[in-house]
Amino acid sequence: MLFREQIVPERLPRHIAVIMDGNGRWATSRGLERQAGHIEGAKTVRRITEAAVEAGIRYLTLYAFSIENWNRPQTEVQALMGLLVKSLREETALLMEQGIRLRVIGDTESLAPDVRRELEDTLRQTEANTRMDMVLALSYGARWEITQAARRMAEAVHAGQLAAGQITEETFGQYLCTAGIPDPDLLIRTSGEIRISNFLLWQIAYSELYFTPVLWPDFTKEMFFEAIVNYQQRQRRFGKTASQVAGEGEEAAR
Ligand code: IPE
Ligand code: IPE
Ligand code: MG
Repeated sequence: MLFREQIVPERLPRHIAVIMDGNGRWATSRGLERQAGHIEGAKTVRRITEAAVEAGIRYLTLYAFSIENWNRPQTEVQALMGLLVKSLREETALLMEQGIRLRVIGDTESLAPDVRRELEDTLRQTEANTRMDMVLALSYGARWEITQAARRMAEAVHAGQLAAGQITEETFGQYLCTAGIPDPDLLIRTSGEIRISNFLLWQIAYSELYFTPVLWPDFTKEMFFEAIVNYQQRQRRFGKTASQVAGEGEEAAR
């Protein structure tokens, strides 16, 4: 039976975040330039976005470019940025068709003006779409995000707009790039690396983690659905005991 058919609609993860990794290895193992892997990876973005919409996922966050990725060879950085602009241009119509709203998290001020212009166009065009939010992490780093939140809160305290005693987990969350977006329920990483690479450190405090050895360009819709089914077989306890959580489930069903 297909994984797609095993998904329980009542227990869908509301938010799935993905560390899309393995483009370079996919290309080099075929004797191709790394860039070819990124082009193939962009096709996977389209495929998995469609799969998320089909499954009824409300928020899909994709780690597209980390702050640390600026340290790659300039030619690769340029190629990635070029691919981003091209994809935005080509895929905006598809986002509109599918009712997807684009959002961006990260240090977008460090992006080149042409990239920012293209992004802002798509952000504006898709603003009113409500079927799914696609959150692109661009020039994103969790430590950068947490640091800028702390800095901005300190400035607000200094300006008398915020009392230090008002700084709660909720307030902190409002100063992060993800303000208003629920935390990921499920985090997927492809390519076999078992690490977080400075992604959403605050937000994944209680996310379920799913690692697969498959390289991002090879990642299929069925593999994405498999991750969802795997997620649905887990018991999220949030510090409680198994029987407490089972009891809550019964109560909710009553
Ligand atoms: C992920 O693939 C894409 C980005 C980080 C932009 P990689 O480019 O990291 O691929 P590998 O890890 O070198 O195989
Ligand atoms: C993480 O992948 C960043 C993105 C997927 C955009 P990397 O390939 O940059 O991560 P490391 O360097 O292997 O940890
Ligand atoms: Mg990588």
